Amino acid sequence: MNDMHAASTSAPLLTLDKVTFRHRGQTLLQNISLTLSSQGSTIVMGPNGAGKSLLMRICHGLLTPTSGRLHWHDTGGRPPRQAMVFQRPVMLRRSAIANVTYALAVQGTCWRDRKPLAREALERFGLTDVAHRPARVLSGGEQQRLALARAWALRPAVLFLDEPTSALDPAAIKAVEDAVTDFGRVGTRIIMNTHDISQAKRLGDDVLFLCQGRVVEHNNAESFFLAPRTRDASAFVRGELVW
Ligand SMILES: Nc1ncnc2c1ncn2[C@@H]1O[C@H](COP(=O)(O)OP(=O)(O)O)[C@@H](O)[C@H]1O
Ligand SMILES: [Mg+2]
Repeated sequence: MNDMHAASTSAPLLTLDKVTFRHRGQTLLQNISLTLSSQGSTIVMGPNGAGKSLLMRICHGLLTPTSGRLHWHDTGGRPPRQAMVFQRPVMLRRSAIANVTYALAVQGTCWRDRKPLAREALERFGLTDVAHRPARVLSGGEQQRLALARAWALRPAVLFLDEPTSALDPAAIKAVEDAVTDFGRVGTRIIMNTHDISQAKRLGDDVLFLCQGRVVEHNNAESFFLAPRTRDASAFVRGELVW
């Protein structure tokens, strides 16, 4: 883990200091220390059960570490504005547009701004025609675009995506990848879990590789894929580690 800070070429965004997560006597994340820089996109990879989703939930504030701490540098230690997109979209039992305006309301956006922001986001993701349909009857691909539109409307500084394309067909995958690139263009910091190596190569600036609840490697994406430094990462890149 000598290269732990290798990927940090710009100012730091988030530091994890000895983050450990235990559950029922099992250590699921162990002593994770790392710093993410404030720019670019980080791809989190690793075999199934490595702890990628847990780590993401901790970073997003959905779970509290058993020990250790998180520090967000730009915002005096407190989390910045952030959103999360899951493998299976979580939609409320209401219309597509209401799912977006509701998220804006929760964020505290003034009611006057909610509809225009929601409409703009739906349009951006090609969802204008389905804006008034119940969100839960939309196709898997449409629901994932809706999840991205909802995140877009929130203007997050950081966007977490947990295997957002695992359940999608190639066209829908392309739409999600384009969206991730668009978020990156407007300066949103991307942190994404994926088990798709070609996707990681397309989208990642740096790679965080987890195995059995530990960070095994953190490196810039090019170096990680070209010359992984650990045996586990090597096996993973060659497709020999089961996920
Ligand atoms: N909420 C939870 N409570 C307890 N154990 C969990 C919870 N979520 C996941 N786990 C366990 O933690 C380990 C890591 O899970 P996860 O982060 O989902 O792995 P990954 O996303 O890398 O596939 C697994 O062994 C899983 O069974
Ligand atoms: Mg997972």
